[in-house]
Amino acid sequence: MQRELTLEFVRVTEAAALAAAPWMGKGQEKMADKAAVDAMRAVFDTISISGTVVIGEGEKDEAPRLYIGEKIGAKNSFNEVDIAVDPLEGTTLVARGLPNALAVVAVAEKGSFLKAPDTYMEKIAVGPEAKDKINLDAPVEDNLRAVADSLNKSVKDLTVIILDRPRHDELISEIRKVGSRIKLISDGDVAAGIATARKGSGVDVMIGIGGATEGVLTAAALKCLGGEIQARLKCRNKDDEEKAAKFGIKDLDRLYCTDDLAKGDDIMLAITGVTDGELLKGVRYSWNNAETHSLVTRSKTGTVRFIRTEHIITNKPPYFPKNIFNLDYARE
Ligand code: FBP
Repeated sequence: MQRELTLEFVRVTEAAALAAAPWMGKGQEKMADKAAVDAMRAVFDTISISGTVVIGEGEKDEAPRLYIGEKIGAKNSFNEVDIAVDPLEGTTLVARGLPNALAVVAVAEKGSFLKAPDTYMEKIAVGPEAKDKINLDAPVEDNLRAVADSLNKSVKDLTVIILDRPRHDELISEIRKVGSRIKLISDGDVAAGIATARKGSGVDVMIGIGGATEGVLTAAALKCLGGEIQARLKCRNKDDEEKAAKFGIKDLDRLYCTDDLAKGDDIMLAITGVTDGELLKGVRYSWNNAETHSLVTRSKTGTVRFIRTEHIITNKPPYFPKNIFNLDYARE
């Protein structure tokens, strides 16, 4: 893929973030998500790619836009790519005005991303220093000791990030027995996985059960940033098993490594902050202006660029969603 495309993809995540951010604190998850999806979808069609959504908003009958299998991109392009998106990672974070909501896009050559069903996934993720030291099947204590060794830290100084869910009660008490520090988050395990690979984030390990599609996006991010994720689908019931079968997954117990979730050396990633977070600032508005903060990178070089963009909303081209300050727009 031409490297210039990374700068095109950041326009896509910027649009999603600009559209979702006015919903911050409004208590309306669905509206925030719809605004992000519509904006992201509109800007995708201006990019010279022939893209297929492989990780998106769900199946065609449940999502009008950015559904799995949808073809997106400018017409007449031969640049065939697969696309993994989460227009708004952390819908509840936005609705409640909490930190770390992101708009995320990963793009790669065809066949690079696991077609993951909308089920749960058990995951462990670490940054570059602890790469190749983790094993999802090992006791959590072994993993924590291995990561601590690779970081030259005491296990008591490790910080582990986990979604605050009752399903993690046992895991949390095991980690507390080992003595590591725990950061509980209400949502957003993509941001949490990425934090493990960012020096200075204060986060060493992300562990626990979250969304499967978020697992693929985390893998794409760690391919670019240099960490590792191991994961396994966690079907809750027959419905989940049928969803997995529909996606061609026969072995429900399969252990997926980073490369099984996002393979190849040509992955591009763009992320824009929606609400303020440790990785990126959220969108700031003032009258007709807005400011966004984004990160773009690609796995080929691992170069990470932080982009601060000043937007003049009324100067946006016609395809750009109108009236992003007007919350009634998304209800149309
Ligand atoms: P959404 O933005 O789709 O709401 O996902 C937020 C999230 O916290 C993910 O980061 C995480 O993987 C998943 O939800 C966890 O699911 P659940 O809230 O059902 O435990």
